[in-house]
Amino acid sequence: MVTAHISATPGDFAPDVLMPGDPRRARRIAETILQDARLVTDVRGIEGYTGTYRGEPLSVLASGMGMPSVTIYATELFRCYGVRRVVRVGTAGGIPASVGLRDVVVATAAHTDSAMSSRRIDGVQLSHAASFGLAAAAVQAAGGGSGPQVHIGPVFTTDHFYLERPSLFEQLEAHGTLAVEMEAAGLYATAAAEGGHALAVLTVSDHVRHAEALTPAERESDFDRAVTIAATALIT
Ligand code: ADE
Repeated sequence: MVTAHISATPGDFAPDVLMPGDPRRARRIAETILQDARLVTDVRGIEGYTGTYRGEPLSVLASGMGMPSVTIYATELFRCYGVRRVVRVGTAGGIPASVGLRDVVVATAAHTDSAMSSRRIDGVQLSHAASFGLAAAAVQAAGGGSGPQVHIGPVFTTDHFYLERPSLFEQLEAHGTLAVEMEAAGLYATAAAEGGHALAVLTVSDHVRHAEALTPAERESDFDRAVTIAATALIT
């Protein structure tokens, strides 16, 4: 079966998928951590690869940006390609001062300002929750040694990248929200609807309180740590 947005054939994807937002990151993950990686789809430049990681089958597919895009790809993977677990590996903006650049956020839940989830069940505000097993495995994989500081808790999935909303971030911080990004809630809602499992492991690339941000080179090297955490969680 070829879906509307993925040109792979059945069996091309492993049951476990790493999902960065950026197609170039998908290729970089395939080149750096997968063995025997082969390109299985590239519709619209959204590249997907399948290989093995430490002997276990693993795929990587980019999600594009935002809830509509991640929802399309995750739905097709879960529904049509036999995928069971998807771990998003992406970047996020820190919200409280305690969440610094380069830190990793394991997103156990995702609040959202998107209307997408409110359309799933009329009159119901769905919870967007990560897979407990994947979250626990990611925390274990990140723990100890000289690894990054790891924060565990809810994030905010927004439709707006450029809207200035300082008071919104103050209120989200008062509710324990760690970071802002644009896909986790869509991925979690899709996993729930399709009987799959999902998690987001996020690298803090900028901060909503000040202008500092990682350089493109830093983004890549720090991002690699989150990819290792996510891949290790999947084989645990
Ligand atoms: N992804 C990375 N940083 C972000 C931010 N500040 N807002 C939304 N998405 C992001």
